Order: sequence, then C-alpha cells, then structure tokens
Amino acid sequence: MTRGEKGWALVTGASSGIGEAFARRLAFEGYDLIIVARRVELLERLASELCRSCGVAVEVEPADLSVESDIARVAQRIAEVGPLAVLVNNAGFSTAEKFMEADLQSQLRMIYVHNLATIWLTHAALRGMISHGRGSIINVSSVAGLIPAPYNAAYDATKAFLVLFSEGLHQELRGTGVRVQALCPGYTHTGFHASIGVERKIPEPFWLTPEEVVDASLSALERGAVVCVPGKKQHLFVSLMLALPRPLRYRLIRLVER
Ligand SMILES: NC(=O)c1ccc[n+]([C@@H]2O[C@H](COP(=O)([O-])OP(=O)(O)OC[C@H]3O[C@@H](n4cnc5c(N)ncnc54)[C@H](OP(=O)(O)O)[C@@H]3O)[C@@H](O)[C@H]2O)c1
Repeated sequence: MTRGEKGWALVTGASSGIGEAFARRLAFEGYDLIIVARRVELLERLASELCRSCGVAVEVEPADLSVESDIARVAQRIAEVGPLAVLVNNAGFSTAEKFMEADLQSQLRMIYVHNLATIWLTHAALRGMISHGRGSIINVSSVAGLIPAPYNAAYDATKAFLVLFSEGLHQELRGTGVRVQALCPGYTHTGFHASIGVERKIPEPFWLTPEEVVDASLSALERGAVVCVPGKKQHLFVSLMLALPRPLRYRLIRLVER
C-alpha cells in the first residue's frame, strides 16, 4: 500500500552517505521508500525517522548485494511492489590499493555490488516503469568512471561500466517516459574514504556534501542530462582532463591521487 503521493522509490546503500541523502530527499518529496543495505540497525533507525517526519511508508530490505540470492530477493520485491517511480543504484565501496595487492575476492565483490546488482535491479524495475510510461533510474558512478586513476583500477572500471550502461539504456528508452542517469560525483564527504583508510589531501573547495550531490542529480534528471557530474569546479575539471592527450592526463591524475 502506498502512503506517499509519488509512488515507490528504492535506494540501495541507503544506510549512510549519498544513499541516505537520496532516501531523505525522496521521502521529503513524498515517495514511499524501500531502503536496502547490510547495516539493518541504521536502516531501521532511518525508516522510523522518515515515516514519522514525512508520513511516507518506508520498508527496510536488508541485503548484501555481493550475494546473488540477496540481489534476487530485492529484485523479487521490486516485481511485487508494482511500477517503481525511482530506482537509485547507489551501493558501493572501494579498496584504494594496487590491483595486484588487493584481495581478489574484494575486487570480485565490487563487480557484484556495482554492476551485477545494478543490471539485475534495473531489469526488474524497467518492465513496470515502461508499462507505466514513467520512472527514473539513477546509477551512482563516479568521476573515477570518467577519468581512471591508479590504485583503483577495478573500482574505476566498474564505475565506467555504469556510465556506458546508462548511456546505452538512455538511448534505448527514448520515447518510453523512463529516464536514466549516470551520476558521477567527485570527492564527497561521507564515510567512503575513511572506510578504506585513505586520508585525501584534496582542498576543501573540491569536496561536496551528499545533499549537494543529490540536488545536482535530481536537477539534472529534470533537464534530461544523462551523465551528471555534480559541482561546477568538478565539471570543469572533468571536461579539461578529458580534452588532454592520455599520457598527460595520466601524469596529472597521478599527482592528484598520491
Ligand atoms: N564519497 C565519495 O567521494 C564518492 C565519490 C564518487 C562516487 N561515490 C559512490 O557513491 C556511492 C555511495 O557511497 P558513499 O560515498 O555514500 O559511501 P558510504 O557512506 O560508505 O555508503 C556506501 C553505501 O553502500 C552500501 N554497501 C556497500 N557494500 C554493500 C553491499 N555489499 N551490499 C549492500 N550495500 C552495500 C553501504 O551499506 P552497508 O555497509 O550498510 O551495507 C552504504 O550504505 C558508492 O557507489 C560510491 O562508489 C562516492
């Protein structure tokens, strides 16, 4: 049963950071929510707060999106709930180390969480969205998906996958009423960097808050922009870097990253 005015939105990785900011904003706008992640206590606390403050329905769906049976269960929930209004494929993590020094299992899990889960949940959501003639899918990629850097090769590749997947899908979905976006944030203040033990020496003006990322994403969705790089400075940085010859770009990015 929907309580909000806007229908159901499902957000993965809603227990913290950018996913939590999406959940808060969508609840505030009147969407009922299904929130997905592994840290159930955080999800439950968020759910009761948003039910109370926004008057929407919030379902907690605990899932480890590196596990196929959990992804299948979330996909099944999407099929049961009816046409989703919004799907945000946001769950993700990084390891920030040389590829050959990283634990292979963690790199494989990354492919599951970032790519396999996104493909699976998008497939589950699209049928209803297309038949309903509306819906939005936001795939949270990264600036790293546009400009790959060292010490993150698998992460960057999984994020580039999300950009290409979103762009291809966008073209297929022309005329259906369904919108797709690859959201490519740069450095954003969340637990993401601390969780991998990396202290970034990036000047404060180059950081965004999760709320700024969500604002930029939803405005870009309204404008029909398929690839969204939040922040004017970040957008300029990406445009300039992509205009450079690759060897020069690699040299500059090495300076930024270590
Ligand atoms: N922060 C940045 O600078 C930045 C920049 C560019 C892109 N991004 C992207 O933004 C997205 C959100 O990251 P964030 O910055 O908000 O970091 P965060 O606060 O660490 O959030 C990551 C979210 O992903 C969930 N998650 C991770 N592994 C999962 C798994 N196996 N199954 C289910 N959920 C999982 C986490 O929930 P549980 O731990 O509860 O499962 C958490 O809710 C990621 O895709 C990240 O790559 C971040």
